[in-house]
Amino acid sequence: MLKREFINNLNEIRKRALDHMQKGFIVADYHVDQDVIIKILNEALINEVVCVFRYKMHYYTALGIDAAAAKSFHQRAAEEQTYADKISFRIIQLGGKPNYSRAGLAHLDHSQYTPGDELMEMTREDATAEQITIDSFAEMIRFMGDDDIPSCRMMENILEAEKKHAQDKGDFLKTMSPDLLMGVA
Ligand SMILES: [Fe+2]
Repeated sequence: MLKREFINNLNEIRKRALDHMQKGFIVADYHVDQDVIIKILNEALINEVVCVFRYKMHYYTALGIDAAAAKSFHQRAAEEQTYADKISFRIIQLGGKPNYSRAGLAHLDHSQYTPGDELMEMTREDATAEQITIDSFAEMIRFMGDDDIPSCRMMENILEAEKKHAQDKGDFLKTMSPDLLMGVA
């Protein structure tokens, strides 16, 4: 059965980011306040940290199932970490603080991990998580627009990489499931 904890976390992060955006428009009178940008980037950061945790967990699980898949999960975790670092540096450039506090990452306490999960289930979870990330980051980019071009460009670059992740997961699922190949699943 597909675990929902990571997916629920990402949906919560996306909702919080949307809330920041709504309030940002009201407070800033159609111009995005820098504090709001920092809040949004911190939600993007937490999103990526959740993804690092998820891929790490999948890596250690897959070690006993499929070495090639494990290697792929490990690589993805490293990539998501580089995105988290880029976002963190941008937050610092803007005068903010990357939110690595216990409160900021509190939702990770709810991420339960059950050994013995199937490779297919982990990949399905990753595919869903990547799509939520894509939707969330696209919303952030649209919101920031021209009000913070460097942040916007950075997020656009990360979004392109996340799209490739989602594509890879989709391709991988197709190789594993004949039903997917036929468009049934
Ligand atoms: Fe990703």
